Amino acid sequence: MPRLSKMQRAWWKEAVVYQIYPRSFQDSNGDGIGDIRGIIQRLDYIKSLGIDVVWLNPVYRSPNDDNGYDISDYRNIMAEFGTMEDFDELLAGMHKRGIKLVMDLVVNHSSDEHEWFQQSRQSRDNPYRNFYHWWPAEHGHPPKRWSYFAKNGSAWKYDETTDAYYLHYFSEKQPDLNWENPKLRAEIYDMMHFWFKKGIDGFRMDVITFISKHPGYPEFPERYQGQNMIDIYAQGPRLHEYLQEMNQQVLQHYDIMTVAEGPGTKTDNVLKLVDEDRKELNMSYHFDHQSIGVGERYIVNDDYQNLVKFKKVMTEWDTVFAEKGWNTIYLGNHDFPRMVTRWANDAPKWRARASKMLTTFLLTMRGTPYYYMGDEIGMSNIKFENIEDYKDLMTLNWYHLTQSEGGDVDALIESHKLVGRDNARTPMQWNANENAGFTKGVPWIKINPNHIDVNVEEQQDRSDSELNYFRQMVALRKQKLTLVYGSYELLFPEHQQMFAYLRKLDDETLLIMLNFSEENCAVTLAESLKITGVLQNNCTSLAHEGTSVELLPYQAVICMVDTQS
Ligand code: GLC
Ligand code: CA
Repeated sequence: MPRLSKMQRAWWKEAVVYQIYPRSFQDSNGDGIGDIRGIIQRLDYIKSLGIDVVWLNPVYRSPNDDNGYDISDYRNIMAEFGTMEDFDELLAGMHKRGIKLVMDLVVNHSSDEHEWFQQSRQSRDNPYRNFYHWWPAEHGHPPKRWSYFAKNGSAWKYDETTDAYYLHYFSEKQPDLNWENPKLRAEIYDMMHFWFKKGIDGFRMDVITFISKHPGYPEFPERYQGQNMIDIYAQGPRLHEYLQEMNQQVLQHYDIMTVAEGPGTKTDNVLKLVDEDRKELNMSYHFDHQSIGVGERYIVNDDYQNLVKFKKVMTEWDTVFAEKGWNTIYLGNHDFPRMVTRWANDAPKWRARASKMLTTFLLTMRGTPYYYMGDEIGMSNIKFENIEDYKDLMTLNWYHLTQSEGGDVDALIESHKLVGRDNARTPMQWNANENAGFTKGVPWIKINPNHIDVNVEEQQDRSDSELNYFRQMVALRKQKLTLVYGSYELLFPEHQQMFAYLRKLDDETLLIMLNFSEENCAVTLAESLKITGVLQNNCTSLAHEGTSVELLPYQAVICMVDTQS
């Protein structure tokens, strides 16, 4: 049995992180856009969830080409979101309530409206020229690079002023910063100190695995063309050198947490980021489960909800961290669909129970849970029918690209109803009123009509609501360190409906059983596992006798078991 006394405990391992997408949380001034004062108004609600850490998506000055992921001033607040005074008040309000605040750090790229880029593009000998990646046009067209958001799919954009191409893995308005340049790195570290000195508690590092580029921009091997380039983007030659330098110069001086957004990271290289002996980052999150059944341009195939594959991915990722490093667990965020639609079933008949089942999963796996706002009330995908309703440049660009190629735009719309990013970006549903209590004005993106039924006000005091289930699960995770530090062991790996596992610590063994299907689901447990009690259940009872157990559709239970035979 693993022993608690042998564990390297840390506050960020025991924390539950709640993610707030500020644009969609609460509008305080009627312009239809969520803002910092809106979050301040909701602090008591956030506190009531029992969570420990808030990860706040970018609130820095930005022209909003990519909803704040295109930063034009790293030391100021986006006008739409408020002022630095508002930010300071928010931070103080969180700390007063014992909640830590983790900010987004977006340093793979800046906005093209950032002063550095404005300078850089002016002349080839501008002092800021080498803050970005440039390819002189007299050398011909640069080797292929794939871009997530470029209208033509290419990450090189020609710029007339200096007759050169600049690199942008994301949109044209998000030029990639050149980390080879020590001056750029010094600027970034200085900016990080600025925020830590204010007292923030950590950074979620946006696409941090992409910061090191291959010098000379060589052609990549055939297998890394198109979207596959993500894998090679994540293996830049100096990535770990930069992160160790960042750790030495900044991170090690504060009691903070760090989490990499790790696109392209695999089970065989993630420890390089998070093995504590290497002194880089604390945690990283991967995309392997999110990409099950989702292809180029997010076209979905039949594997989309393949539970056996899902279990395999989650289990392999757990195994990596059995001795070193630390895992993260998430099912959705602002870049993915609503978890209940993606992983379970959002039909009115099952939505509430299925949401609770997924909440049980998130809070009983080994690794720090990252829980996305609105999932605690079981919000589901809005599923826009019309391209005009989309705001996300990713869906819009892929739509237009597909259209210009004469491709199947209807298939794209059908898939994006399931996986498009805007599904997670519709406003938080506070009540059943017009605009769901989010704004008194016109919301920047449509509000899910199901807010009539699915909202905080309705769930706040109802003891069996999704919201109160989430609160109970957070409390349970705090109370049972087995759920945090216990070992993880998958049962029935090939079972197509049931996700079941054991968590063990000291003398305690917990059995978690989750039915991911809309059919009843029966299993026979090993003789050695005797259920002695039910700690948590999203239904009113549990059918079990001896070693046989039968779960209802989307039922989730946490059982205490006696392993002495
Ligand atoms: C990350 C962000 C995403 C953004 C992209 C570019 O993936 O989470 O929202 O579009 O980076 O910054
Ligand atoms: Ca506002």
